[in-house]
Amino acid sequence: MNNFIFENPTKVYFGKGGVKEYLSSLLKHYGSTVMLAYGGGSVKKNGIYEEVADILKESGKHIVDFSGIMSNPTYAKVQEGARLVKENNVDFILAVGGGSVMDCCKIVSAQAKLDEDIWDIENQKKTYPTDFVPMGAIVTASGTGSEMNAGAVITHQEKKIKGALFGAQAAFVFLDPAYTMTVPFRQVISGAFDTLSHAMETYFGKPEQNNLSDDINEAVMKSVISNIRILLENHRDYNARSELMWASAMAENGILKIGKITDFQAHQIEHQLGAYTDCNHGQGLAVIHPVLYRHIYKEGAKRFARFAKNVWGIDDKGTEEETALAGVEALADFIKETGLPTSFTQMGIDEKTDFKAIADSANITAGCCKALTHQEIYEILKECL
Ligand code: NZQ
Ligand code: ZN
Repeated sequence: MNNFIFENPTKVYFGKGGVKEYLSSLLKHYGSTVMLAYGGGSVKKNGIYEEVADILKESGKHIVDFSGIMSNPTYAKVQEGARLVKENNVDFILAVGGGSVMDCCKIVSAQAKLDEDIWDIENQKKTYPTDFVPMGAIVTASGTGSEMNAGAVITHQEKKIKGALFGAQAAFVFLDPAYTMTVPFRQVISGAFDTLSHAMETYFGKPEQNNLSDDINEAVMKSVISNIRILLENHRDYNARSELMWASAMAENGILKIGKITDFQAHQIEHQLGAYTDCNHGQGLAVIHPVLYRHIYKEGAKRFARFAKNVWGIDDKGTEEETALAGVEALADFIKETGLPTSFTQMGIDEKTDFKAIADSANITAGCCKALTHQEIYEILKECL
């Protein structure tokens, strides 16, 4: 086991009815002005906004609305939120939504305490914020795992970069699977695949020898696969949705990463695809993963063979490489089974897209079993069409 330091400061309230039961008492620890942040309006249609706003009012809070946080949140939206926080002296930020709302709020929380531009501070000066407007989150769509970490993925439209920024981590999160019932089913599966992707991107990192994180990771991957299958049969299965909601947090709360250098090459490619096309994150990953893995599995044959056997239940084939490839193909078959797209064309991304620019701007990761070149990423992207 490699050396590690582990801490996760987010308190999780998991299960039905948690917001009604605990939110008011939690907010007593914070000042009177609360920014209520949300996305494009789903929370107004499904009643979650009203429920939360009523609790805030009954708790004597003054509400500052921050609405319209889009999927793939932009840096401009972060700046809008930070201005609102400063102008209204917001004491606490409550993010109500999926990964996009949480990510935007994490960076709003940090930017509101800074005079300088957080993009420059983090990307050029390589220093990270330490002062935040405190925040909490009510998760309405799961998958990204944003709920239990300080990372955010923000699109800088002018620079054409969708990249990681580090901001606040929620002091508390509510994970109520009942809130996910109104998420469009395509998004439910897309989110669940994102979770599977996070687990795979960690599992295929380094080192290759076994550690406890990998054993736990296999359990998470198998759980995600089996619960997606349950949901395909019955979209409203509460138990499957709740398992997927906790798996989302488990894949990104740091536990699976203990002792590992993660891979995340598929994510780096997908993020730049998103910067150029504004595509759906989980769908982009579903197309990229099998194509990328066909390019790299030989370099990581031992680990890919273990993935085939332990996650997909595949028997040993003639050689380790053959077993490894069978695992990659099982993943590709599973993606088809879920109804996720298997090509960029199915996502409405055509050959006119500037794949060269996407490939050239994608980060190459240290944890991937094969050090890709930008040229090979370009070939991978074209094969995804
Ligand atoms: O905007 P509204 O109207 O709320 O609709 C949203 C949105 O259209 C809808 N939705 C959410 N909860 C709902 C609901 N619709 C009905 N009922 C509900 N209860 O779902 C749609 C997608 O929401 P979004 O938050 O965009 O999706 P997701 O949670 O997949 O987040 C995607 C973002 O997270 C980033 C992605 O890159 C992308 O920008 N990621 C963040 C990570 C992190 N911070 O750790 C890791 C991930 O790898 C990922 O990159
Ligand atoms: Zn992801």
